[in-house]
Amino acid sequence: MSPVEGSKRIVHLRSQVESHDERYYRRAAPEISDFEYDVLKAELADLEQRYPQFARPDSPTQRVGDDRIQGFREVDHRQKMLSLDNTYNEAELRAFHARLGRLLDTGDLRYTVEPKIDGLAVSLTYEQGELTRAVTRGRGDRGDDITVNVLTISSLPRRLRGPAPRVVEIRGEIYLAQAEFERINAERAAAGEELYANPRNVAAGTIKLLDPAEVARRKLAIVLYGLGYCEPEVASSQTELHGLLEAWGLPVVEQFRTVQGIDAAWAAIGELDAVRRTFAYGTDGAVVKLDAFAEQRIAGATDKSPRWAIAYKYKPDTARTRLRAITIQVGKTGILSPVAELEPVFLSLSTISRATLHNEEEIRRKDIRIGDLVEIERAGEVIPAVLRSFPEERPAGVEPFDLVKAVGGHCPVCRGRIARVVVAGEGGEGVAWKCQNYDCAAQRTGRLVFFCGRRALAIDGVGDIVAAKLVELNLVRDPPDLYDLSLETFATLNLGTADEPRIFGEKNAAKIVAAREVARTLPLERWLYAMSVPEVGETTARELGRRHRNLAELADSALLRAVLQRAELEREKERESPNSKKNPAQDEAERERRKVRRGEIDQELDALLGGPLAGVPSEVGPSVAASVLEFFASEPGRRLLAKLSALGIDPQGTVMAAGLFTGKTFVLTGTLPTLKREEAEQKILAAGGKVSGSVSKKTTYVLAGSDAGSKLEKARSLGVAIIDEAEFLRLTGT
Ligand code: IVH
Repeated sequence: MSPVEGSKRIVHLRSQVESHDERYYRRAAPEISDFEYDVLKAELADLEQRYPQFARPDSPTQRVGDDRIQGFREVDHRQKMLSLDNTYNEAELRAFHARLGRLLDTGDLRYTVEPKIDGLAVSLTYEQGELTRAVTRGRGDRGDDITVNVLTISSLPRRLRGPAPRVVEIRGEIYLAQAEFERINAERAAAGEELYANPRNVAAGTIKLLDPAEVARRKLAIVLYGLGYCEPEVASSQTELHGLLEAWGLPVVEQFRTVQGIDAAWAAIGELDAVRRTFAYGTDGAVVKLDAFAEQRIAGATDKSPRWAIAYKYKPDTARTRLRAITIQVGKTGILSPVAELEPVFLSLSTISRATLHNEEEIRRKDIRIGDLVEIERAGEVIPAVLRSFPEERPAGVEPFDLVKAVGGHCPVCRGRIARVVVAGEGGEGVAWKCQNYDCAAQRTGRLVFFCGRRALAIDGVGDIVAAKLVELNLVRDPPDLYDLSLETFATLNLGTADEPRIFGEKNAAKIVAAREVARTLPLERWLYAMSVPEVGETTARELGRRHRNLAELADSALLRAVLQRAELEREKERESPNSKKNPAQDEAERERRKVRRGEIDQELDALLGGPLAGVPSEVGPSVAASVLEFFASEPGRRLLAKLSALGIDPQGTVMAAGLFTGKTFVLTGTLPTLKREEAEQKILAAGGKVSGSVSKKTTYVLAGSDAGSKLEKARSLGVAIIDEAEFLRLTGT
């Protein structure tokens, strides 16, 4: 791989890993298995090492995932919460041991081995034995304050039994027991709501609910295994700590073992694997830690993870079964995805009869054919996947799977035209087939579900089943048609069959009607995201929502046209280069003309960058700009705009006067009551201001929150204006 290719791949992998991080940590809805994620991340780390010139301190390989979301107060951890390095085989585990041997100058090391709980990390602070705070891992140094929600966990004592230190941070994992997970899903099935994929996602989603009463209804549990800040010191080893946690009356991990040497650790890992499926919490590995705290201190830590501990990840469970058929599903964008219909088989606590096959290329690569014996895997988390087939056991004459043939050359749902398209996938770009009919029932259903999703307009109650029914009955063509339906229409919806009716009911219907009214008031960014405009994800929607006053302005956006113009000028500049190899200048006169033209182009570019494009982030590039303008000029886009305007829905952008803070420099210090540091910074940058890390005479404002320290004193001594959040918000007009 050349450095240029390397740099491209690095950029691609970074954005992939970042988007999976976002899905896993903030939205609690991962799309790929932990293993697939680790593979991506390992490749990225490897490339960054090979091409250190492209390594960056803010790369996802260099920091811990970030779970912070809006709506919670942020607090600092007294001691940083780190993450763990993973290993997948015995050799890597032994390399870990060898490294520690070198660091500590001895081959004779004592370890602890315990389950790795598949939940979400939490840090509990007990002061004088009293539980005072519970905080998520967040960014490692500070996280979200989830105390009220953690207090709903009935098995967690608020007071430590017996003598307790003055202050102690206790680390552990919040989880949802398998049985409780099944209870919640059964309830959701009855209400026609979408089912949750796995206990971890529900636990992560639940702990971040803003309504503690709702949290209490889902019975979360907790288990504790680690120590953060502690004063005075109370234990000198993991083993002692484990005993102490138990003595304090806290729930602790099962099968905790103390062993001498790496052979014994390896044996304990195997023993743990044999029994871990009987635990109430999900486990995906074993954690091996140096036992003695004194040795842990010598081994130390990197920015991200301790050198004294490692997670050994168990292979995901697999099973063999027969592939009965391959059906084709159509998603909200019209992409045709193959699904494996399997002979039901029991795997990882549930019966599985369907699995993803990703795409046609993958079916071909793995040589999977209908009727084959296949191996499937369930990585605890996501939808099960088909790993491989066994061609040697296949009867003669079975043809390879041909997707186009299987669907008879058209969309299996609407029978419309399909076309080959290039899509971004895991390993770079791939090809797929796409239904070209925007009004296809499958696409309509997909868009409706998305429109009502939590991150979009949060109209609870419209999941897959309800949406499909509304589309089937032709009650909804475009998502906003939801507003035309009466409470009674929803209430009498039959989600079952004529013989076995399942009526949606008054209560569920009332929820939808209430939620759709709340949605009317949501800002432009949420509506834009909800509208399924191609290439507009959450971040882009947010950026656009901050830079346009309403949908009408966005549909004919001067800013987006400026983005396109800029790209066009840059292309022209390239073409007109006096030394262009592709397009060489014929003579001196031509070279001269090009120079002049390039000078003009530079001026035009400067005007754009200093004017309409000032502060426009990279998310809003030419491809997004073209997509948004095209969408709102297209028939479906205009239809949507007309519908919203007929409904009197006019979502407002969160625009700030551009240039409000031009020439002004801010320094942020302490914890703000509602805004996160990044949010405040973004507001400043968007309004043309600068953010600096240290106070000087040039500082215009110090924006100070609680626990502000030396920066505040410096500002006072220099006579710099000090403002609080309320004042700041007044300045920004929000
Ligand atoms: S010890 C300094 N022990 O796994 C970090 N972590 O992938 C030491 N986890 O952030 C962590 N079970 O949230 C430890 N028995 C266990 C664990 C465990 C689950 C989590 C923890 C950590 C993550 C790393």
